[in-house]
Amino acid sequence: MSEDITSSLNAEFWNELCGTNIATELGLTDGSERSIKLFDDWFFNFYPYLKPFLNRSLVGKDKVLEVGLGFGSVSTYLASGKKSYTGLDIAQTPVAMCSSRLSGLPGEHVAIQGNALNAPFSDSTFDAVVAIGSLHHTGNFDRAISEMVRVTKSGGVVCGMVYSLFSLRNIRSQPKETTKRIVENLRGAARIQAGPKMRWQSDHNQKGEPAPSTEYFSRKALRRILQEFGEVQIVARNLDSPPIPFGIGLKIRKLLIRTKLAKWFGLDLYFVVTIKKA
Ligand SMILES: C[S@@+](CC[C@H](N)C(=O)[O-])C[C@H]1O[C@@H](n2cnc3c(N)ncnc32)[C@H](O)[C@@H]1O
Repeated sequence: MSEDITSSLNAEFWNELCGTNIATELGLTDGSERSIKLFDDWFFNFYPYLKPFLNRSLVGKDKVLEVGLGFGSVSTYLASGKKSYTGLDIAQTPVAMCSSRLSGLPGEHVAIQGNALNAPFSDSTFDAVVAIGSLHHTGNFDRAISEMVRVTKSGGVVCGMVYSLFSLRNIRSQPKETTKRIVENLRGAARIQAGPKMRWQSDHNQKGEPAPSTEYFSRKALRRILQEFGEVQIVARNLDSPPIPFGIGLKIRKLLIRTKLAKWFGLDLYFVVTIKKA
């Protein structure tokens, strides 16, 4: 699929805010302050490692770009602690949601619609770029990351999350394919553009359609791409909740995500690159 087609499919698909399925499960049907607060509480409770990751990665970084906004939970958190926050998203609804959440916060904050593959900013504009679960959807991760590096100052950081190819979920749901990819990774570095089943498992909308484009990476493959730009740190996080009802699965998940199992076979690879420019 061409980059232009992927981008227009993304602009349409992600117009339904990422997190809408959860918001529906939580019974949130409007954009009221109360609903947004309930969503944010759920979000940071479900991803308890996220705020510490952002805090650690962004020490001393005042001018921040975030790419891929969804409900704007991370956006609002970042903008609340920074002098200058810019949000970029290819879809119109996350930009509108984020803009409305930023209004009234002290500082210079803005959200704009645009494509990470052609980021509408001059070279070396930002101290830091944050991209949680967005660049692997663009259809061209390598180009997206080099755009993020281009707009970041030397000494700044590009940090974010992409999906892990060797997660416990992938090992369990597709043991044969994953084994093949493990062997491939021993010889080289495995990364894949996923088919519909894997894409659906990670992201689907209310109609049951999978995200248009999703790439998964081994740690080794991700490191190889990122190390060209500076010093790299990568850590796996997150696991599925066990299928136990009445909130027990969620409680067990909370315990499990602190263990070595999540550190090795987590769903998500969190990365930080400290950018070194000549
Ligand atoms: C899975 S959501 C993640 C949203 C948010 N970071 C979160 O964690 O909830 C992916 C987001 O990336 C955005 N996105 C996808 N392709 C993009 C592109 N080429 N340029 C900018 N944003 C893009 C989508 O519109 C969507 O809002």
